[in-house]
Amino acid sequence: MKISISEAAEILTKSDLVALPTETVYGLAANALSDVAIQKIYDLKGRPLNNPLIIHVKNIDQASEFAYINDDAEKLINSFWPGPLTIVLKSKSKISKLAQAGLDTIAIRCPYNSHFLEILDLIDFPLAAPSANISNMISPTSFSDVESYFPHLPCVDGGSAIIGIESTIIDLSVEPRILRHGSITVEKLQEILSSDIKNYISNNIIAPGMMKKHYAPTCALYINQTCGGDDYYIINFHDSNLISKFSSNLSVDGYLEIAAKTLFKTLKLAEKIVSENNLKGIKIARIPNSGVGIAINDKLNRASS
Ligand code: TXA
Ligand code: MG
Repeated sequence: MKISISEAAEILTKSDLVALPTETVYGLAANALSDVAIQKIYDLKGRPLNNPLIIHVKNIDQASEFAYINDDAEKLINSFWPGPLTIVLKSKSKISKLAQAGLDTIAIRCPYNSHFLEILDLIDFPLAAPSANISNMISPTSFSDVESYFPHLPCVDGGSAIIGIESTIIDLSVEPRILRHGSITVEKLQEILSSDIKNYISNNIIAPGMMKKHYAPTCALYINQTCGGDDYYIINFHDSNLISKFSSNLSVDGYLEIAAKTLFKTLKLAEKIVSENNLKGIKIARIPNSGVGIAINDKLNRASS
């Protein structure tokens, strides 16, 4: 159900849920200070209670009410906010304990989306917002994607998400380490920070929510493929020319940013066509492992594991 910005602010103030556009994916938002509101997020998504939520704020001042902002965090915030960068910091323990899943840290970001920022200006509390999908399904990048999961959920329509994959997460509560790859790459972060940014070891679960499997497709998914076949939905990239009756291309021109933007929409369509035509699964061509390609491959690796 489409709603206006002022209606969204009103619903949020009553501790109810709305879906909101961000530059990365659509979020399922609720008052981060209210346990009642946060419980509704976990219930609606079917999300395990040990998987903490990202807290969305309007600026660094609001962030400093809830997190201890250290020097590295301040540098990254000045360079990348508003934008697709989530920073994990020591928490001042003022937000809902449920949203934080009992941890003493908080994951915080300021999104780059005019609708979202206008709503944050209308309310006096931060918003917890995981992606607006049922747990383990593909993150939504448009109003109609959200509607496909939650037909009756009030949602602000902000068009197609410009980035298309979730924010990069860096943990600065310890020595800097990347918890999730996104469109802001490690190289870009490293240009700002003097100490070495460590990569998380993919099987080492730092936060309770960092399951190896994140998006779990409803059919078999094969990555780095070199041949096609009519029994499969084929996802090509650039000039990879895998042939099938059912296929699409993430970016014919070979732009990884465009591949990121079209990835979830394409996977959603692919799942649907596989099921309607009784295909054996989805085959994806190799995506270069550089720039935002690192984040794309990370997601595909987990989905195919
Ligand atoms: O782009 C995004 O970040 C989107 C939009 C809506 O803002 N949100 C999003 O939320 O991707 P979600 O819930 O799908 O992913 C949140 C991730 C989870 O992997 C969770 O474990 C991690 O953030 N996280 C949250 N709090 C954490 C903490 N204190 N320490 C480590 N990881 C944390
Ligand atoms: Mg998610």
